[in-house]
Amino acid sequence: MAAGGWSATRKDCRRRSDERPIMVPETPPAAAAGSATGGFYQRFVGPLLRTDAGADAEQLSRITLGLLGETSLRRHWPLVRATLDGLSRDLQRRDPRLQQTLFGCRFANPVGLAAGFDKNGVAAALWDRFGFGFAELGTVTWEPQAGNPRPRLFRLAEERAALNRMGFNNQGARGVRRNLERQQLPPPGQRPAVLGLNLGKSRQVSLDLAPDDYASSLEWLSPLADYAVINVSSPNTPGLRELQEELQLRRLVERLRRLPACPPLLVKIAPDLEDDAIDAIARLAYEEGLAGVIAVNTSQDRLGLENRRLAETGRTLAEEAGGLSGRPLRQRAHEVLRRLRATAGPALPLIGVGGIDGPEAAWERITAGASLVQVYTGWIYEGPQLVPAILDGLLLQLERHGLSCISAAVGTGLAWR
Ligand SMILES: Cc1cc2nc3c(=O)[nH]c(=O)nc-3n(C[C@H](O)[C@H](O)[C@H](O)COP(=O)(O)O)c2cc1C
Repeated sequence: MAAGGWSATRKDCRRRSDERPIMVPETPPAAAAGSATGGFYQRFVGPLLRTDAGADAEQLSRITLGLLGETSLRRHWPLVRATLDGLSRDLQRRDPRLQQTLFGCRFANPVGLAAGFDKNGVAAALWDRFGFGFAELGTVTWEPQAGNPRPRLFRLAEERAALNRMGFNNQGARGVRRNLERQQLPPPGQRPAVLGLNLGKSRQVSLDLAPDDYASSLEWLSPLADYAVINVSSPNTPGLRELQEELQLRRLVERLRRLPACPPLLVKIAPDLEDDAIDAIARLAYEEGLAGVIAVNTSQDRLGLENRRLAETGRTLAEEAGGLSGRPLRQRAHEVLRRLRATAGPALPLIGVGGIDGPEAAWERITAGASLVQVYTGWIYEGPQLVPAILDGLLLQLERHGLSCISAAVGTGLAWR
């Protein structure tokens, strides 16, 4: 497929023969666990994550986000700033070889926080401190929503996985905008980490009226977004996934495009689509000039864990509603990414997400065609040291393959060495 409507800026930065190789310290990925932040997390949070039962997964996230939200608002206080500077020293990897410009956004590195963790954007100003090159906030709906009844988030500790049926609990577009404004972020384009806003359909809105519902959210949030994501793939809002169907999706994209200020638009897809449907979305992305595709959301498939029982309910995964994430999703997420790349070609930026919990999985996804990757479940289990471990691992691979920047690795199929 031709490059056509896509606006990705890429340089071929394969190493020239006259260039001196940049030496990367041979840090084994696990060495990052030796960092102060990594050590703290493994010591105090790690034990809570080793079993399904015990600390409630949602409660843990809520407490963490509450603390991060307060920290973000006070980040200029001297003591708070000193602590955050320590965090940055531990977790950030500033290296020009990791930088890329895609759909008009400058990414300091290719590792992002996936949607669903900071649903209300309360810690938006902090994500670069954790080493992320970008963070996706949301999913945000137009109406504030409480989401599904609890329990709705389950740890599958042994499998390094999670099942969730949160159901887009969030403060709504107006609430999220207030949260972002209170943090006094630099304007889009001038932030240390790129911020995406992931948008979904309000639960009570019919599929017919969905385009207007998404448009209301985007209109409200676009001044604050570096990019926006049309989420049509969460398994926990009835009917939502039907919006992945070609005609519906086209109608939705065209509605958003008519807004006076529309940031780069990406679409996030499910892992459970048939190949034909994946191909149709790749073609649609091309024809509509979308900025990119994010693959994948959580899976409705049980990925071999049908008979696994949840400690909290005593029922099997086959009997429970919700989407699976984490290590069991890795293989399928990889296949979907490869299929997208095969259909769309190199010009459509892809973001790979699903089961990435170390540098090898990140490298595999990038060399299969992802320009950027995101983490969620793996980041919870591995802790904050996962981000520098991935970045160190990627730098080492670039060095070993004689490549001078990360965009030169995208879609090469080069094996992990
Ligand atoms: C608890 C939880 C909540 C999530 N909420 C959202 C969401 O609101 N919107 C969204 O697009 N994806 C959401 N996701 C999906 C993730 O962004 C990601 O696509 C998926 O978990 C696969 O990545 P992982 O295996 O690294 O977790 C959620 C995932 C989890 C575990």
